[in-house]
Amino acid sequence: MKRSLTLNSGAEMPIIGLGTYKLGLIEASQAVSYAIDAGYRHFDCAWFYGNEYNVGYAIREKIKQGVVKREDIFVTTKLWNNYHDKDRVIPMLKESVRNIKVGYVDLFLMHWPFGFKEIEPLWPLDEGEEAYSDVDYLETWEGMEEGVSMGLAKSIGVSNFNEEQLERLLENCKIKPAVNQIEVNPNMNQKKLIQFCKERDVMVTGYCPLGRKEYAGSPGFPDPTILDPKVIEIGKKYNKTAAQVILNYLVSLGISVIPKSVNKERIIENFDIFDFELSEEDVAYLDSCNKNQRVCTMDEFKTHKYYSF
Ligand SMILES: NC(=O)c1ccc[n+]([C@@H]2O[C@H](COP(=O)([O-])OP(=O)(O)OC[C@H]3O[C@@H](n4cnc5c(N)ncnc54)[C@H](OP(=O)(O)O)[C@@H]3O)[C@@H](O)[C@H]2O)c1
Repeated sequence: MKRSLTLNSGAEMPIIGLGTYKLGLIEASQAVSYAIDAGYRHFDCAWFYGNEYNVGYAIREKIKQGVVKREDIFVTTKLWNNYHDKDRVIPMLKESVRNIKVGYVDLFLMHWPFGFKEIEPLWPLDEGEEAYSDVDYLETWEGMEEGVSMGLAKSIGVSNFNEEQLERLLENCKIKPAVNQIEVNPNMNQKKLIQFCKERDVMVTGYCPLGRKEYAGSPGFPDPTILDPKVIEIGKKYNKTAAQVILNYLVSLGISVIPKSVNKERIIENFDIFDFELSEEDVAYLDSCNKNQRVCTMDEFKTHKYYSF
């Protein structure tokens, strides 16, 4: 099984990355430190997560200790929705680069295709459509392209873009997006969008690969496959856990995945997925779990003209 994907920018993106959403500040440094020791070289950050500094701190410590070199590490971060104005992109990218403090970021993503006005809250739930910015993501992209020429980001990409938005961007860009980061888990296997991206040489990173199991049981929330007794049974055949079965299955779709964990054992477990191959029958079961049910719907913003789902 391959350990990295080659992006259209020429960069190598390791297939397993550590998700960092909802990691507290101390937790983030600890988790990254455990992850580097376990072999992870890919870290998925975002300005919105508020812990970029702590992720970067742990990376710098490991570089100082001689465990890794900067060039071994692949750090992603993302532009938040309130900063889609073209002239806000570089200042925000500079802020992320200053936070992470490892010189440059390997991948800079537009977090969502839709924007909010800069003066609005970061998650303008009760503000209605007044809070929306109508800046076109093509303009935002022009700002991101400058980030590459300034050496702040090695590659740029998008997140949560649908086929139509991605096609429009591809037709109107100077630098092609290297990645589309989207939700992928067995409930939402995204085979069609993954194929669409592959045909256009855009790599996919799958977020919420474990179905964000902390919300299991909440009304309307899809039951995470990690809790499916059949998947747990499948794992026993290979001496693996349900999480490992799921991550192995997702990687076999030709994507990278970014499971989040705060726990050292689970961080190690989520990286230990390369030494087995699921049978056709087991893959067929995981395929059959697809329900096109999202964990991350963002349906609070579904009236935005650039809403993508
Ligand atoms: N681009 C976007 O819009 C977007 C949206 C959502 C997420 N993301 C990125 O994707 C990353 C992953 O998504 P996510 O954090 O939402 O959810 P996730 O990785 O699907 O699931 C995380 C949950 O699974 C648990 N877990 C992790 N490993 C486990 C294991 N081996 N066995 C059992 N439980 C396990 C974690 O608990 P413990 O921590 O206690 O282990 C946590 O509750 C995020 O952190 C973020 O970096 C991006």
